[in-house]
Amino acid sequence: MADKYPAAQPHDDPVEIFPDVLYVHGSFRMAPGMTINRNMVVLRHDGELSLINPVRLSPAGEKALQDYGEITRLIRLGPMHGLDDPYYVDRFGAELWSQEGGTEYADPPPLVVIDESTEAPFPSAKFIPFRETKIPECVLLLERDGGILLSCDSIQHWASTSRCSLLAKAVCYAVGFMHPANIGPFWLKLMTKPGGSLKPDFERILEHDFEHVIGAHGQAMQGGAKAALRATVDRVF
Ligand SMILES: [Fe+2]
Repeated sequence: MADKYPAAQPHDDPVEIFPDVLYVHGSFRMAPGMTINRNMVVLRHDGELSLINPVRLSPAGEKALQDYGEITRLIRLGPMHGLDDPYYVDRFGAELWSQEGGTEYADPPPLVVIDESTEAPFPSAKFIPFRETKIPECVLLLERDGGILLSCDSIQHWASTSRCSLLAKAVCYAVGFMHPANIGPFWLKLMTKPGGSLKPDFERILEHDFEHVIGAHGQAMQGGAKAALRATVDRVF
């Protein structure tokens, strides 16, 4: 039965791509004929699940999540990915972690405000907020399994146009999405202040070690992520 929240949109089955790390490759219908892929990562610690860039799943997908652990926490890494947060907060009583700012999804407000000093709610992980973006955005680095960098719209690994509509595929190729560990072209434009540059933020991220990157769009990149982001930064800036 329909409820008052945005419905689940088509997605793949959750896949455990690292120990205690689930990856869900889904989709988002932006407009008629324009559907792009959209990813969620789920981290498990002590039986609790933290949903990174939350995406509502089908009843079967949601059951798989609940079998995996207790849906406890939502971590919003970017201001444009809050569509399904009200559902998870109301349905599961999940606590929302988010930076301040961003008007796209202002409700519910975060229970925990993420800033430079915020400790991650599980070990061997750290938030790295962008300092120069117009609206707050951050990445989350898991310092294990070679380093897993979780991003929202800032870093997107595009190896294919999976779960994109025909029109979206054309746009992805036309506007330069199709690169490994790419910087989202629309995001970069939107988030750069007049006369400013986000290069220092990406250089700061590159001071850390990571082999893998998973953003909210594109696919999960397993291996070679830091070198790919280095190449992206050199190409883009
Ligand atoms: Fe996005």
